[in-house]
Amino acid sequence: MKIYFAPLEGITGYIYRNIYENHFGKGRIDKYFTPFIVPKEKTFLTTKEIKDISMDHNQGMEVVPQILTNDVRGFLQTAQALKEQGYDTVNLNLGCPAGTVVSKGRGSGFLNDTKKLDEFFSQVMEQTPVKVSIKTRIGKEFPGEIEDLTEIFNKYKFEEWIIHPRVREDFYKNTPNMNAFTYAFEHSKNTVCYNGDIFTVGDYQKIVQEYPSLDKVMLGRGVVANPGLIGEIHGNPPMTKDDLYHFLNDLRDAYLEELSGEKDVLFRVKELWAYMQTMFDEPKKDWKRIRKAQTLDAYQDAMEHLLETCGFVENAGFIAP
Ligand SMILES: Cc1cc2nc3c(=O)[nH]c(=O)nc-3n(C[C@H](O)[C@H](O)[C@H](O)COP(=O)(O)O)c2cc1C
Repeated sequence: MKIYFAPLEGITGYIYRNIYENHFGKGRIDKYFTPFIVPKEKTFLTTKEIKDISMDHNQGMEVVPQILTNDVRGFLQTAQALKEQGYDTVNLNLGCPAGTVVSKGRGSGFLNDTKKLDEFFSQVMEQTPVKVSIKTRIGKEFPGEIEDLTEIFNKYKFEEWIIHPRVREDFYKNTPNMNAFTYAFEHSKNTVCYNGDIFTVGDYQKIVQEYPSLDKVMLGRGVVANPGLIGEIHGNPPMTKDDLYHFLNDLRDAYLEELSGEKDVLFRVKELWAYMQTMFDEPKKDWKRIRKAQTLDAYQDAMEHLLETCGFVENAGFIAP
């Protein structure tokens, strides 16, 4: 089974990817996907985007940059810029549920304009300078949209089709719609990757049992909550609190080196704890201290106290809010 690390905007930038790879990912993650890049009129890639995707910052990892657009020219120009940076495959985001994205007909907001979607791909797939993979939801409003989408996607040869089986209207609520996923999996001419709510080894095993011929899965929030999850899936012992401590310290130091100030670093590490605290029993008090921390020292105190005093919940995994 190939295992992919999902793109998580604001979290899985190159700093996180590198520190994660060093501590937990080596030999276990087949591909990392970058958070989305939105094509611009003139500068095809911003300094921040170039930093994220530059080969120097992604050594030893298989990385696929992601583009978010519904515009053929923007896609092709950005794909070309990514090719010039050394990439041979890009991913198109057809899943983002954010209001500001959907209102522009991008992300999952592109899924119900099937005529435009088909036209977009008929041009893109003829002219693209690199291979294209897609990451989609099962529809914008209704799970049944998956049938038309499968028919359209079957006209094109994508590198792969990553499916998160929710509709846009679900955002991250409700549970993945496995009937819709099964339909796509059985009818797709492109190879399919499953993505959604794999938060424990048990969740992973369930997918493997239900889809014996599936050969790739993508995990996101479950790995942010439990960085050791993919190791466990590969049969390694669970992450220890010590493992997590060293990972977090290296991550903090790398952020301190790269970001503009303590406030930025604090914001990043607090965001991670929103996921990781769900792994612990009784983390409430320290999690509140982490959330309220105004300095890195205060954060570090609260984080160390949490790790000293709270244990992992048995079979813990990310718990969606
Ligand atoms: C904070 C956050 C940021 C995300 N950013 C992206 C993104 O940039 N591109 C994308 O395709 N999906 C993005 N996603 C969706 C994830 O890649 C993934 O499809 C989703 O979380 C479901 O997988 P999971 O249940 O394993 O987390 C994001 C999700 C979250 C929660």
